[in-house]
Amino acid sequence: MTGGAKRIGKSLCLSLSAIGYKIALHYNTSGVEAQRVADTIRRNGGTCELFPCDLCDSRQTSELIPRILKKFSRLNVLINNASVFDPATIMNFDGRSLDRHFAVNFKAPYVLTACFAKLCKKGNIVNLLDAHIIHNKTSYTNYLLSKKALCEFTKLSAVELAPHIRVNGIAPGLIFPPIGAKSGYLEGLAKKVPLKRKGDVTQIAQSVKFLLDNPYLTGQIIFNDGGEHLI
Ligand SMILES: NC(=O)c1ccc[n+]([C@@H]2O[C@H](COP(=O)([O-])OP(=O)(O)OC[C@H]3O[C@@H](n4cnc5c(N)ncnc54)[C@H](OP(=O)(O)O)[C@@H]3O)[C@@H](O)[C@H]2O)c1
Repeated sequence: MTGGAKRIGKSLCLSLSAIGYKIALHYNTSGVEAQRVADTIRRNGGTCELFPCDLCDSRQTSELIPRILKKFSRLNVLINNASVFDPATIMNFDGRSLDRHFAVNFKAPYVLTACFAKLCKKGNIVNLLDAHIIHNKTSYTNYLLSKKALCEFTKLSAVELAPHIRVNGIAPGLIFPPIGAKSGYLEGLAKKVPLKRKGDVTQIAQSVKFLLDNPYLTGQIIFNDGGEHLI
């Protein structure tokens, strides 16, 4: 699980551990939070090992799965959850922001997918996308482009890596507010969502479990968004 220390990643680690998965929890800057998640999992009888890595660093990224395989005899599931989400527009072009978004949100999942395929040979990959990937209006251009690319990569890798590896995506809608958002931010946006409410992080875990459990699904994108992508 990349980016497993907080928010959606943390919830997925706890939910998957609760149904028997041993967790390789990757984090970058959130060492304290990652240790807390690991302690909770271990207190509940589960297994969790921590793997720090800066996914902007291509050498560290390509070493991540080999490092995990030194601690765990096998790896069945890769969840590409870590993400950068910063405002950006074309008019205010910033090359470093573009590079960072593509490094963490697209290139790292690509490299980890390739390592997983070569070293693990079978299993499941789930990529966290975004319900906005089908729209083109945004003030988060670099983020959205990187997630659109990851969506296409999800489908493309589903074909190349079949039949032994299934690759699917989840496109969340309103789950957690961006860091620093005012209180009530998501509730305000939720009024425009067809189901008229924000989502809950446990529903992302439900979708992950569904994708892992259904052996005839690959290249699917589940929009976990109350219908937001439809409008
Ligand atoms: N939150 C939502 O409502 C929502 C909506 C749509 C899509 N999504 C997608 O769902 C996923 C999870 O969302 P989230 O809001 O829980 O994510 P998040 O909190 O924004 O980020 C998850 C983790 O990504 C890690 N990360 C960032 N830069 C990194 C780097 N250079 N190297 C390694 N790790 C790095 C961070 O780890 P550290 O903290 O350890 O540094 C962070 O905790 C993301 O892919 C996001 O795009 C979320």
